[in-house]
Amino acid sequence: MNIDWNTDIYCLIGNPVDNSLSPKIHNHIFNENNANCIYVSFNVEEKDLKTVINSFKALNIKGFNVTIPHKINVINYLDNLTTEAKIMGAVNTVKNLNGKLVGYNTDGIGFAKSLYEEGIKIKGNRFLVLGAGGASYAICKKLAMEGANTIVILNRTLNKAKNLAETIKSEFKETNVYYDFLTNVSHYIDIDVVVNCTSIGMLPDVNQMPVNPLLFKANTIVYDIIYKPLETKFLLTAKERGLKTVNGISMLVNQALLSQNIWLNNDNILKSYEKIKGFLKNM
Ligand code: ATR
Repeated sequence: MNIDWNTDIYCLIGNPVDNSLSPKIHNHIFNENNANCIYVSFNVEEKDLKTVINSFKALNIKGFNVTIPHKINVINYLDNLTTEAKIMGAVNTVKNLNGKLVGYNTDGIGFAKSLYEEGIKIKGNRFLVLGAGGASYAICKKLAMEGANTIVILNRTLNKAKNLAETIKSEFKETNVYYDFLTNVSHYIDIDVVVNCTSIGMLPDVNQMPVNPLLFKANTIVYDIIYKPLETKFLLTAKERGLKTVNGISMLVNQALLSQNIWLNNDNILKSYEKIKGFLKNM
């Protein structure tokens, strides 16, 4: 990497960002595409968000990613939003367009792309979504936007599942939406795809599972958005049972490539998918 006066700066803001893979992934993609750009990460406190965003404008930072807990509040300090970001009510990618900050959301698209890459359709299928936090919100909205037949949202805290289900129901009349406690999973095993959006099973709690995948039917697809570890106990158990599984790396890589495509306006970047996935597997 040759940093000079002409190098464009991109970054991630969140709290915490200490263990984020984003700098590694983005700098690798920049290198692969000979882009004179670097990517760094900043821990940003809620109280400093406005100052930080304004300083990005002053410093002519070309773009940034936004992660927990700023994905919603950042909207207050942006000049424009894409339709997708408006529907999601959250932003994870920002582009500096001649001094105006435009907010995008690639969470749902990154997820949907990872399904299509695995040959899994959204339209007409029945999805069981575990968890009702930020990731679940983006995924459920995207599933409804793409015409899922049914979305069942299960969560430890019922009220959060209820709120999410009601939001989806009010905006997308064509999709059947249900919600319940996570512990009632056995009532909802007649589904096509189950997606774990809880943090259960993530490092260091690698022996935990959100639900028992042995409950599901033989043709159920099991997706875990966690990528640390690459194969959670939930996925390994599903695999042993012979179920098709998808891990969180593909969503992560797709989101990174979509951000770079927005920033650099270069469709070729999207072709690096397999290379970046390979790079991460060998890390
Ligand atoms: P993210 O933005 O990654 O979705 P989040 O908003 O903190 O993160 O959401 C985490 C999800 O994991 C929530 O659905 C949370 O359930 P609660 O809403 O009940 O908190 C779920 N989760 C985390 N740890 C859990 C645990 N030990 N048991 C059950 N659910 C858990």
